[in-house]
Amino acid sequence: MNILLLGSGGREHALSWKLAQSPSCTKLFAAPGNPGIAEDAELVSLDAADHDAVVQFCKDREIGLVVIGPEAPLVDGLADSLRNSDIPVFGPSKSAAQLEGSKGFTKDLCELAGIPTAGYVRTTSLDDARAALDRFSAPYVLKADGLAAGKGVVIAENRQDAEEALADMFGGRFGEAGAEVVIEEFLQGEEASFFALSDGVNIVPFGTAQDHKRVGEGDTGPNTGGMGAYSPAPVLTPELQARVMKEIIEPTVATMRAEGMPYSGVLYAGLMLTSKGPELIEYNCRFGDPECQVLMMRLDSDLVEVLHACAEGRLGDVGAEFLDETAMTVVMAAKGYPGTPEEGGAIDLGHADANGAKVFHAGTAIKDGQLVANGGRVLNVTATGANVTQAQANAFRAVDAINFPSGFYRRDIGWREIAREKEGAL
Ligand code: AMP
Ligand code: GLY
Repeated sequence: MNILLLGSGGREHALSWKLAQSPSCTKLFAAPGNPGIAEDAELVSLDAADHDAVVQFCKDREIGLVVIGPEAPLVDGLADSLRNSDIPVFGPSKSAAQLEGSKGFTKDLCELAGIPTAGYVRTTSLDDARAALDRFSAPYVLKADGLAAGKGVVIAENRQDAEEALADMFGGRFGEAGAEVVIEEFLQGEEASFFALSDGVNIVPFGTAQDHKRVGEGDTGPNTGGMGAYSPAPVLTPELQARVMKEIIEPTVATMRAEGMPYSGVLYAGLMLTSKGPELIEYNCRFGDPECQVLMMRLDSDLVEVLHACAEGRLGDVGAEFLDETAMTVVMAAKGYPGTPEEGGAIDLGHADANGAKVFHAGTAIKDGQLVANGGRVLNVTATGANVTQAQANAFRAVDAINFPSGFYRRDIGWREIAREKEGAL
């Protein structure tokens, strides 16, 4: 089967690496891709926003499966355009992608389906929002309703900061995404991610992970897209995973179907493990980046078979098997990230890929034959081990083999779990 993969980050490199390994992958195309993805796929120039061009390409090249990596084309309805032309696609419809595209939509769905989540109010004007703050206490959680590249959430420590942030949001700081703001109750606990595939009816659990969102060691400094991740997340015990399936994922899939917008694709649930149990913080309608990298490292099943079955509504016939190992990815970013990253810094990967490690390209380019940085998050150095401690040692052995003078990374990825592993060994 010919396959088209859309996207250009570390998530898509992990997907291309795994898709290309499948015996049923005849030819893999990627648009726009990156130098890492070019090792697995033929790169083509296609604009995901030009639905007609994507559909035409799929017809010309007899594409049997399209895999959409990032959220923007999903929220924009690309999966609908492909399905309307009978082209199998992995990823939800525009209406189902509202689970990521609108925070307010997801909160209303939780209320309708009885899914545990923070109490909330949807507001559409600064006056309403200010008044709504009376119903909450500090810290205040304020969220721009729409897609804001992961930057639309403000946690304000006091009322004054909250009012200023609201004025900013309604003042257009996040553009259209901030025309509505959701105010939420603050949840206390440890965060973890749970993944599941659904074809609208059937559900296949697809692993757990934890990431590090802050740029600095000890989880300090500004938020990023994620500086590292590991899978599985042992805090999500089998008992808790069963509760997540029963209390969160199953009611979501059933309610979306009942509401006439069946969810087909990956459901990425961001969870807070509170004293009452797991509560939903947010849904994403695509794989996490860099969470996907650690999931792909552990996936033992044929990714093409699973994603194709999902696209064709046959998930009931397949399962997803994961290796019993821990995978960790360490993000090497360009200095300046998450502000303005230094561009063009030279990278020498050395023998980082030795000993079973894998370097996924996130933001790289080739200039005059030299691999260089081309983005904020540049490399995702990924390795496995018997537990988080060993996976971390193997990941850092690979990081240490790389020469990237204008890059930086966190040396403490997995610290929470490594501390627990130490305690458990005493
Ligand atoms: P989101 O984009 O909704 O995942 O929010 C980004 C981050 O803000 C989450 O990963 C949490 O760390 C934090 N956050 C979001 N909502 C809440 C909440 N209701 N209570 C506490 N922290 C939250
Ligand atoms: N790593 C967080 C995300 O993909 O949204």
